[in-house]
Amino acid sequence: MKILNSLTILPIIMDKVEVLKQQAGIEACKFVKNGMKVGLGTGSTVKYTVIELGRRITEEGLEIVGVPTSLATEKLATKVGIPLVELSECTHLDIVIDGADEFDNNYNLIKGGGAALLREKIVAQESLSMIVVADERKMVGTLGAFPLPVEITPFSHQATIRQLSTLLDSRVNCRMAGDNPVVTDNGNYIADAHCGPKLSNPEALEVEILKIAGVVQVGLFNNMCDVVILASSTGVETKINPNGRLAE
Ligand code: A5P
Repeated sequence: MKILNSLTILPIIMDKVEVLKQQAGIEACKFVKNGMKVGLGTGSTVKYTVIELGRRITEEGLEIVGVPTSLATEKLATKVGIPLVELSECTHLDIVIDGADEFDNNYNLIKGGGAALLREKIVAQESLSMIVVADERKMVGTLGAFPLPVEITPFSHQATIRQLSTLLDSRVNCRMAGDNPVVTDNGNYIADAHCGPKLSNPEALEVEILKIAGVVQVGLFNNMCDVVILASSTGVETKINPNGRLAE
């Protein structure tokens, strides 16, 4: 019998997650119809949505315009042929499709693992509906195992991090790329708060975090998500938020 060593198994596991991401990303496109203005999220799951929308434009004549939530998504959307517009040119967007780092039973989210949370939140706020694409690893009972990203100003960022650490009673790190802080598309830094899975009242917490001078935005997306497209080993499920805008 052939014995698989860990180096053999690792690519198999990674491939499986990648397939789930692709399934979720493509399934979300069923919500996109001709004439829509579509917010295009950021990350390794929603990239499959962007690619599929590009395919539908080219092969099926789908007519949409997109608003990207990051420079990376702007580049990909342009490459696959999605016509782009500025958010400020639109009175609203019909839909945004985006990934998440975690979602809880109330469809509240942690986002910002890709450092795009500010633009993602502005685009989500302007959208009439929000679809989240995720694999099963993202579903949690209580938010917070994933370090909570907070976009902060570079000015006196150590002081802001201290304030966050005190408020959250948690270790908070400035996200680094080598020796330097990660710089967002908006010229800011990201602080990651290692709270642990105890963020049972994300709505109150969002209010408190936003009171800190130096905080630009926090990666808590409360009461924004209407649908989660969840890909797991048992299939792809469309989970409708009963309190959301797309509930029956
Ligand atoms: C980007 O800042 C994030 O909000 C992403 O949407 C989130 O991290 C999910 O990304 P993945 O689909 O790559 O896990």
